[in-house]
Amino acid sequence: MAFVERVFSGVQPTGNLHLGNYLGAIVNFVKMQQTHNCIYCVVDMHAITQGPEVWGGPAELARNTREVTAAFIASGIDPKKHIVFNQSQIAGHAELTWIFNCIARIGWLNRMTQFKEKAGKDRENASVGLYDYPVLMAADILLYRATHVPVGEDQKQHLELSRDIAQKFNNDFGDSIRGHGFADGLYFPQPEPLITGPATRVMSLRDGTKKMSKSEASDNSRINLTDDADTIAQKIRKAKTDPEPLPSEEKGLETRPEADNLVGIYAALAGVTKQDVLKEFGGGQFSNFKNALVEVCVAKLAPIAAEMKRLVADPGYVDSVLVDGANRARGIADETMRMTKDIVGFIRQR
Ligand code: TRP
Repeated sequence: MAFVERVFSGVQPTGNLHLGNYLGAIVNFVKMQQTHNCIYCVVDMHAITQGPEVWGGPAELARNTREVTAAFIASGIDPKKHIVFNQSQIAGHAELTWIFNCIARIGWLNRMTQFKEKAGKDRENASVGLYDYPVLMAADILLYRATHVPVGEDQKQHLELSRDIAQKFNNDFGDSIRGHGFADGLYFPQPEPLITGPATRVMSLRDGTKKMSKSEASDNSRINLTDDADTIAQKIRKAKTDPEPLPSEEKGLETRPEADNLVGIYAALAGVTKQDVLKEFGGGQFSNFKNALVEVCVAKLAPIAAEMKRLVADPGYVDSVLVDGANRARGIADETMRMTKDIVGFIRQR
């Protein structure tokens, strides 16, 4: 059974891609290319749901869109075999969102925890787009009738909402769907989350209990995908640790979030288990382990940073990748929109 399942995932172009984005999402995207038809989308429409003070304004948005695209390519995503594009090039995302807005219930959106976090105390002042963000995400996925969606733990609730929207659409339009040749009434599939495990949850280098994040004030808290070898080395040497040597069993990491995080990063980058790492470095000086960690980080990330730099310097090429991807994505999206409009009862040119 080769290449029948379709994977869709999105990354927001909000700047400062870091090791957490790489190990938590991109590495997984690269792997899935071997077993699935993949569509990877730079979700620039999601990026503008908070004010320009958050996403940086038009020039930054364009720059960040190219940077995420460059990171995809530099990490090994093949935009010829699979599809890489930016969301705003395909009108279907917005069109299907409108139809889904009329399917999703206010009560469903009111339960979304990410909206509550992002809107904070001043909810009256959040954009309507931020509230509607999960509906746009459902449209992203279902526009391509994707069956598998690699996402982090924090997006699980949004994916459940996508499943609810697909199911309610299939119910509400059941007769019309069957009338249009879907005998089983299953028009939109139920997308399955592929949750990237806690092993790839990368924490801040300054506080092992907080996720590595682009919004943490200190740049030393994260390794950016564009950091050069010296910067990576410096940040790892400065990374917070405790005075104990590394344990020789995983159990010994349980109450030591910073040590656990660094061991996890090493394991993920080297493609081994944490236990393997402890077998090699347990009982030894932390500084020895850090030196080895600098080595794997630089070996894996420096070539990606160099390739990203080369690509970002050639925006014409990056844009041509996005246009080519959009042209191929549009083939699928237009087909979904034609059928969906027919099912809903919208008149269109034939
Ligand atoms: N909300 C996702 C995030 O911030 C990004 C995203 C947008 C997405 N549309 C998607 C992920 C569709 C998976 C599928 O991580």
